[in-house]
Amino acid sequence: MQLRPGEMALMRQMALQLAGISLDDSKGYLIETRLGPIAERVGCTNFNELYFRTRYSANKELLQDIVEAITTHETIFFRDGAPFEALQYKLLPEVIDARERLGQPRKLRIWSAACSTGQEPYSIGIVLHELLRDLKGWDIQIIATDIAKATLQAAERGIYASHDIARSAKPALMKQYFEPVDGGFRVVDSVRKLVQWRQMNLLEPFSGIGQFDIVFLRNVLIYFEAEPRRDLARRVGDTLLPHGWLVVGAAENLLDAGPQFVPQTHCRATVYQPKLVPAGKA
Ligand SMILES: C[S@@+](CC[C@H](N)C(=O)[O-])C[C@H]1O[C@@H](n2cnc3c(N)ncnc32)[C@H](O)[C@@H]1O
Repeated sequence: MQLRPGEMALMRQMALQLAGISLDDSKGYLIETRLGPIAERVGCTNFNELYFRTRYSANKELLQDIVEAITTHETIFFRDGAPFEALQYKLLPEVIDARERLGQPRKLRIWSAACSTGQEPYSIGIVLHELLRDLKGWDIQIIATDIAKATLQAAERGIYASHDIARSAKPALMKQYFEPVDGGFRVVDSVRKLVQWRQMNLLEPFSGIGQFDIVFLRNVLIYFEAEPRRDLARRVGDTLLPHGWLVVGAAENLLDAGPQFVPQTHCRATVYQPKLVPAGKA
């Protein structure tokens, strides 16, 4: 199905309404190849009809299929390396020290806020095992959220093809924390049980999500327009505990999100501590 004049603008509006995703005119191929088959399946003869179907339809399955199709799920275990080094050697040790100083229980809450097919939260779980070994006496929660339901279901299964495992830059850890099963390799139970999954649109209020020691908000800000992106950064900042850290993607920064977002570099990763506003910046 080909886009007709004026239909790209309607598809752009639809992507913004459903997921806050900003599609520019160069994404025409994505609409035609990913949304064309969905439009045909539900009996639409053009994209104009699909737009009005999504506006006035309560067909949740159709809306979910469209969200799945317009979102990009590219991810990899230990993506970019540096943030996971920073997690292991700087962020977690400091969070643990801060909690100990305050006499708090041995608890850690970490949010992977656009977790795609699960490589990011599982990589976080592996780092926790590497740092704290058997995790005895620790209450650890990794909350993994994404807007795309089928993607989240795949993440929860925790089974990956051999090429997904091979793409990781940490082959020794992949060997240690994955076991062969029918259809690929499954992340071991001791890591899998640390993760809780939740479908969530980041541009809507985070109802009941709670407070976190560390948030990974990586490779998702790039899809949003400036104001919702700034608002998201501030709301995510608000979910952090006073000693909490925020990690964004290698191609992302929070320079325009407010004075509380002062970049720090640790282990070559850019991270933020928005609750610790430097004097004179508040
Ligand atoms: C490129 S992946 C990033 C995965 C992982 N964080 C990483 O850095 O490898 C982007 C993810 O953001 C999700 N996403 C896009 N828009 C979203 C929204 N409005 N709310 C929540 N998740 C969203 C997509 O479904 C996709 O899984």
